Amino acid sequence: MLTTLIYRSLVNPELQQASIHQLVQDALCKNNANHVTGILLFDGAEFFQVLEGEEAVINALFSRIRADLRHNSVVLLMQDYSAYRRFHDTGMRLFDAGSRTVESILAEIRNLSHFRGCYLQDERIFRLASTFLAQRGLHAVPPEFNASRWRREGREHFTLSQWPDLIVEKPCQFALQPIVEALTGKVSSWEALIRSPSGESPARMFESVPADRLYHFDLETKAHAFALGNRMLKNNEKLSVNLLPGVLSSIPGAVDTLVKQIGAAGLRPEQIIIEVTETEAITDQDAFYQALKALRIAGTGLAIDDFGSGYSGLALLARFQPDKIKIDMALIEGIHLSGVKQAIVRSIARCCEELGITVVAEGVETMEEWCWLESIGIHLFQGYFFSRPILNDVGNIQWPVRI
Ligand SMILES: Cc1cc2nc3c(=O)[nH]c(=O)nc-3n(C[C@H](O)[C@H](O)[C@H](O)COP(=O)(O)O)c2cc1C
Repeated sequence: MLTTLIYRSLVNPELQQASIHQLVQDALCKNNANHVTGILLFDGAEFFQVLEGEEAVINALFSRIRADLRHNSVVLLMQDYSAYRRFHDTGMRLFDAGSRTVESILAEIRNLSHFRGCYLQDERIFRLASTFLAQRGLHAVPPEFNASRWRREGREHFTLSQWPDLIVEKPCQFALQPIVEALTGKVSSWEALIRSPSGESPARMFESVPADRLYHFDLETKAHAFALGNRMLKNNEKLSVNLLPGVLSSIPGAVDTLVKQIGAAGLRPEQIIIEVTETEAITDQDAFYQALKALRIAGTGLAIDDFGSGYSGLALLARFQPDKIKIDMALIEGIHLSGVKQAIVRSIARCCEELGITVVAEGVETMEEWCWLESIGIHLFQGYFFSRPILNDVGNIQWPVRI
């Protein structure tokens, strides 16, 4: 199937201008042989390449290009099927954006290409090229957030060996995972993640609960999480707990129950963050939003969990602005390699900045992901890179430190 792939990358500073012409000559020969077409923009600091060809050929070529040491930070901008080739007689054409005007380059691309019967301004390839030329130099991660300049250092937070009475014969248990402020080395909050009595996943835990008891069960278990919080919270740390939205929309007085549980555990509402994921369509929207208001009045923090997945989306945000938004891990995974995820996460971060909402990136697993996120101004993180959830314990947290 005919595929178009577009990426941008940073030119390796050691690469000489003459070597770029050699690179283009070699690539042109190979592309002609493999029936690959496209263009390469180069501005002295960045490459932007459009590649067209059979899917398997393009995938194999992109793997080789990605591993090529003549450039780095290769970020995929588009990979999609096409009805026809836009550059069907062009195996490879280099445009040197450092020595020409943007208009002249775009005019030449327009002449060279075959954008069939549509307005050029609607053509995604052309728009991506225009954006690249307009935003030259804006994409580079600042050198201080180059992953090779950082390493991780494990530090013990504390161990919780002293709480057996809390975990024996309870209907559920909790694994704890920190939400960290990576650069200051502070824990912002602890998320108490529900586990079955024998420590299995939330899915296994909820499987054993009859459907008509699910929301009541979820509400009741919070009392155990708050009791845990009472034993472990230090300084200004907070405890985050997940709540099924159905608890709020279908149990009358659910917020009062939560407030009583918090008080009974010896905690203050300000120490608690209620995380809501819209994992299911909310049937009684008004009751749900009423309950969110009641939580506000009670003084707990509120977070939208898994933002960007399922129902946890913009419609919820338009109606209700929480203190925190936790960006779903699907948007975070491999973000340093994906121009699409970068554009989405950057705009969520910008939107939250404008609305005064704190952003947490969930599911951070690598130094490269963290560096990219930190470089755009996200400062709170959760994920295996810092600490896995640990059943009834806290353990070590891995902190990034400068080399
Ligand atoms: C910015 C850039 C663009 C490239 N474009 C192509 C290309 O269009 N076609 C190609 O065959 N190789 C291209 N290469 C070179 C490949 O990375 C790789 O060196 C080449 O495919 C030869 O791989 P091989 O020696 O394993 O066959 C490019 C490299 C860079 C750095």
